[in-house]
Amino acid sequence: MNKSPKIVITGASGFVATNLRKYLSKKNIELVSISRNNFKEFKNEQKIISKNYDLKTIVPKIKNSDTLIHLVGIGKQSVEINYNNVNVEFTNHILNLCKKAKIKKFIFTSGLGVSDKTSSEYFISKYKAEKLIINSGLNYTIFRPSYIVGKNDLFTKYLKKQIKNKQITIPGSGTYSIQPIFVNDVVQIILESTFDVKFKNKIIDLVGPHYISFEKYVKLFSKGTNTNIKKINLEECYHTAINNPKSDFGIDDLNILIGNFKGNHKKLKMISGLKFQSVLKLLESGSLL
Ligand SMILES: NC(=O)c1ccc[n+]([C@@H]2O[C@H](COP(=O)([O-])OP(=O)(O)OC[C@H]3O[C@@H](n4cnc5c(N)ncnc54)[C@H](OP(=O)(O)O)[C@@H]3O)[C@@H](O)[C@H]2O)c1
Repeated sequence: MNKSPKIVITGASGFVATNLRKYLSKKNIELVSISRNNFKEFKNEQKIISKNYDLKTIVPKIKNSDTLIHLVGIGKQSVEINYNNVNVEFTNHILNLCKKAKIKKFIFTSGLGVSDKTSSEYFISKYKAEKLIINSGLNYTIFRPSYIVGKNDLFTKYLKKQIKNKQITIPGSGTYSIQPIFVNDVVQIILESTFDVKFKNKIIDLVGPHYISFEKYVKLFSKGTNTNIKKINLEECYHTAINNPKSDFGIDDLNILIGNFKGNHKKLKMISGLKFQSVLKLLESGSLL
């Protein structure tokens, strides 16, 4: 990096965004972070609170920034808000914002499992967002993340809550696998992608080194906590997901969990040159608890 870049982040109070803002701030990178709600700024950070990210207010404040990292997304829909509104149309709005503000680089987190073959409504929305980005003419990097884990992601919080209640439930057999990646690795890779040409106009799986069954993940996570692990009939889980908007697992959470989506870690390692943190080791050491 020659000059210090100026980076814009949307969805600033989300899990990935909060970790990323903290990391970039420590690196003395100038930040403009946008959220619908108030939040505490880090060093070198300018905050914008906006419900609808209207062009008139925001463009002057982000004009000529180097990169925009779009971290807005939903993984559950309702009668009030759906995937198309947030994952597709809102992404299009942010692309327009970038063009008006003359920002040339756009970074997006899609999802592992997104493809032109998918029939999942969630993945279709992410796929459509990817297409809008690719066709925008901007320099882009699209990441397709598996589970991004840290101390305060939704998935980890859900498991911790269950440990407190002395029982973790596993939907179905638990033999399906996931490929988690540590959030500290994710924030380093995202920063690298803002300036390294190896990331230019690429779609890259954002996945960790190990592909492990959910049952093994849960066992390691709860090791030494005296927690009972109970398998729940998958039909029952889907029934709850369909009928109870407050259920821990939504329909698409279940689809993603049992989908056995495996990404190309080797490619990520080669492009990023990063020495990855093993999530298995983190689990074994109990440091996610
Ligand atoms: N975490 C993972 O394991 C994972 C895996 C695959 C893909 N991803 C993708 O990565 C991105 C960030 O994930 P995350 O885990 O950080 O998610 P998150 O904690 O839920 O954050 C997403 C943020 O999006 C913003 N948002 C939600 N609905 C919105 C709306 N209607 N209008 C405007 N903003 C809205 C919110 O920001 P404000 O409240 O600040 O406005 C929210 O905090 C998402 O696109 C997600 O799909 C994450």
